[in-house]
Amino acid sequence: MARKKIALVGAGQIGGTMALVLAQKQLGDVVLIDIAEGVPQGKSLDIMEGRLVLGSSCIVEGSNDYAALKGSDVVIVTAGLPRKPGMSRDDLLDVNFGIIEKVGKAIKEHAPNAFVIVVTNPLDAMVYAMQKISGLPANKVVGMAGVLDSARLACFVAMELDVSAEDVQAIVMGGHGDTMVGLHDFCSVGGIPLPQLMDKATFDKLAKRTAGAGGEIVALLKTGSAFYSPGVSAIKMAEAFLLDKKSVVTVAASLNGEYGVTGGLYCGVPVKLGANGVEKIFQVKLSADEQKAFDVSVAAVKDLVAWVDKKMA
Ligand code: APR
Repeated sequence: MARKKIALVGAGQIGGTMALVLAQKQLGDVVLIDIAEGVPQGKSLDIMEGRLVLGSSCIVEGSNDYAALKGSDVVIVTAGLPRKPGMSRDDLLDVNFGIIEKVGKAIKEHAPNAFVIVVTNPLDAMVYAMQKISGLPANKVVGMAGVLDSARLACFVAMELDVSAEDVQAIVMGGHGDTMVGLHDFCSVGGIPLPQLMDKATFDKLAKRTAGAGGEIVALLKTGSAFYSPGVSAIKMAEAFLLDKKSVVTVAASLNGEYGVTGGLYCGVPVKLGANGVEKIFQVKLSADEQKAFDVSVAAVKDLVAWVDKKMA
């Protein structure tokens, strides 16, 4: 059986991180695609030269041509500008939409059977645009946000309780912006429901830090935004698809009636990810307050999507 092919469109900070992790995990051969001449070629050659040390036999190539997408099983899209200090993700809408338009058309032409994971911000609007432009089925086009936001919340819970981050289960739903919703009742630590270990006020502080976690890193880095944790989060989703893991994770998925959201709007919800992409959307029971917060988050996504719809009309 031939090795799987994973295309990374965008060979910047996140793209480069993902190429290295993919080579380490040996999930398949990798092609890095970017408009910057030499960058995808240089990063891929650099990883190729480290394979003896990594213990990896994956082939990693670089290209400036979207035709290199051909035959990809998975395409992960990070092409686009990252934030600068003081910017919100939404400030990237105009410029990144133009990039997603080009990449979406290329995926439609060269990789119509791929599983597509969008990382470019503003995430929910960009993955919505990607699905419409590429014309791929909605179960095969997802956005990476919930895996990262949940991991960030789990990290802050672990730090607060001084326990291992890998023993914390957390869930953050809604849009990938300031309005995202962390769910106290749905978190657990080594199987212990979090409300038994942490009061709501403390949790709310951590959920607030989670909503601003991307901005916290932008402010520290001064140029660019987070890339290690977004990179590994997207790879977790690719792995769920490639290995048909039936993983239960939160992703930006196309909603058609779930949680009262219609029109294929993309928003972060818990799903089952396997060889068919999004195989199930879990409709968890939210409290009145949580549903209210989720609705506020959906409204924020709707505003951005209305802009996208107008642009595509
Ligand atoms: N096609 C392919 N690549 C492109 C295109 C395009 N049309 N336009 C820009 N790029 C490339 C850039 O040349 C750059 O190498 O996208 C890459 C983006 O890399 P970085 O600037 O390092 O950004 P990164 O940190 O990887 O974040 C990428 O993900 O999390 C989001 O907000 C973040 O939107 C940003 C994206």
